[in-house]
Amino acid sequence: MKQNSFYITTPIYYPSGQPHMGHAYSSILADVFARFMRADNKKVFFLTGTDEHGLKIQKASEKADLEPLIYCDKISQKFRDLAKKLNLSNDDFIRTTEKRHYKSVNDLWKRLIKSGDIYLSKYKGWYSVSDEAYYNDDEVVIKNGKKVSTFSGSTVEWVEEESFFFKLSSWEKKLLELYDRNNKFILPISRRNEVINFVKSGLKDLSVSRTSFTWGIKVPNNDKHVIYVWLDALTNYLSALNYPDTNDNLYKNFWPASVHVIGKDILRFHAIYWPAFLLAAGIEPPNRVFGHGWILSGDEKMSKSKGNILNPIEIIDAYGIDELRYYLMKEVSHGSDGSISLKSLENCINSDLANNYGNLCQRIFSFVKNNCQNKVNKSKNISEADKQLINQTNELTKNLRNEMSNQNLNNYIKSVINISFLTNKYINDEEPWKLKNNNIEKMNNILHLSLEQIAKISLLLSPIIPIASFKVLDALNIKNKSKNLSFLNGSNLLTDKIEIKQLDILFKKIA
Ligand code: MSP
Repeated sequence: MKQNSFYITTPIYYPSGQPHMGHAYSSILADVFARFMRADNKKVFFLTGTDEHGLKIQKASEKADLEPLIYCDKISQKFRDLAKKLNLSNDDFIRTTEKRHYKSVNDLWKRLIKSGDIYLSKYKGWYSVSDEAYYNDDEVVIKNGKKVSTFSGSTVEWVEEESFFFKLSSWEKKLLELYDRNNKFILPISRRNEVINFVKSGLKDLSVSRTSFTWGIKVPNNDKHVIYVWLDALTNYLSALNYPDTNDNLYKNFWPASVHVIGKDILRFHAIYWPAFLLAAGIEPPNRVFGHGWILSGDEKMSKSKGNILNPIEIIDAYGIDELRYYLMKEVSHGSDGSISLKSLENCINSDLANNYGNLCQRIFSFVKNNCQNKVNKSKNISEADKQLINQTNELTKNLRNEMSNQNLNNYIKSVINISFLTNKYINDEEPWKLKNNNIEKMNNILHLSLEQIAKISLLLSPIIPIASFKVLDALNIKNKSKNLSFLNGSNLLTDKIEIKQLDILFKKIA
């Protein structure tokens, strides 16, 4: 595994409708990991994009009465716009209708033919267009008179056609060995068990081409068939690194991927099919697949077909992007599903952002402005209370890198917001305002330490709420080259004599 580079991906989204909060969640989660690694001085490549082939998109374009590519141009742009609105720091945005992607899918297919892992036969079975997935008889039930998948609840249809197959069954043992060798290949752990049990129960060969529609990448040397959309889509992770040019710097620096962030509904494709395709093609599999839970509205997955979508754009316009990012990252427990509502969004903004971190910054910055002409000096006399705060902070920060490298973002946020809480408490207990007239040196020291704490908290929060934290870091006059996490190794951030700038209100309390 590469130590100093970090390749992270979001799923590439189906441009079959409006982007919604579930998409926003997946993307922000990946963005937070990418920003953290960048702040921790790693070389980062962060990819997102759109997944534009297959029957689902063909049908959506027919419904919109547009040519598939024109339809995709339009909707893909909405996802690009959403990426901006979410303040994603993606290094690239890939579309599976791009030339570079065709080249890479063609190469992968040819390798699988060459290795003897693809053969021609006939598919007979169930298919869900909405999931773009094949299901076995025992994965299908009748609900309200319709055949649906027990796994996703979506409607399935019977398909019988000539098809190329991938010899998935012969990769069972190698996959189990992979999960064993890299026991964090699938996180969270509960999902790992789910996948292992599924693989152990026996894998059937997978149909990897279709003949009954045309919107896809044609099978090389047999253009009656289009390549199964998941084999096509998963390959985007390679195409963005200029595969098949394995001498390309992007490929050399960033493959194998460090982590594919995905929702639990597409775990099987990423944790079983994808490594099997790669192993068969002689390409190293990724290091990790992180399967997050769903954003629920009430008890149901938020989705277009259910009509229960909270529109991220409207929420950002009403509450702000940092606010939404913080809320989703804090409130949704990353392994499990999480229900969201405007009420809990407002409570979260008030309690953590306005009353805790925002208030900490505001009270110290205005005190320093009103009483010290924005200048503060540190002294050599450290009090017991100072030492205690420093030790508590060290204790809370010592595991943060580990939390992030295991995608334990909830624990990370809890620790950081706790540092902010403890710093507010320290200020309440130390009462610097009472020292204005009789102990300027001690007052300065309390303020200096508080500002140092604010700098640390802001850097730690910067992957989650980049806009607000960078405002604070700029007001602290921290230079760009120091806006990173090297202080986690024990160094101080601020010089002994500092001058700060004015800081405007960061978060408005919601009444
Ligand atoms: N196109 C495939 C992914 C291909 S990756 C090679 C796809 N697209 S999607 O647009 O349907 O979903 C994209 C991601 O959004 C998935 O990870 C999915 O789990 C996530 N979400 C969609 N709805 C969701 C929620 N309600 N909650 C959280 N995430 C969910 O799947």
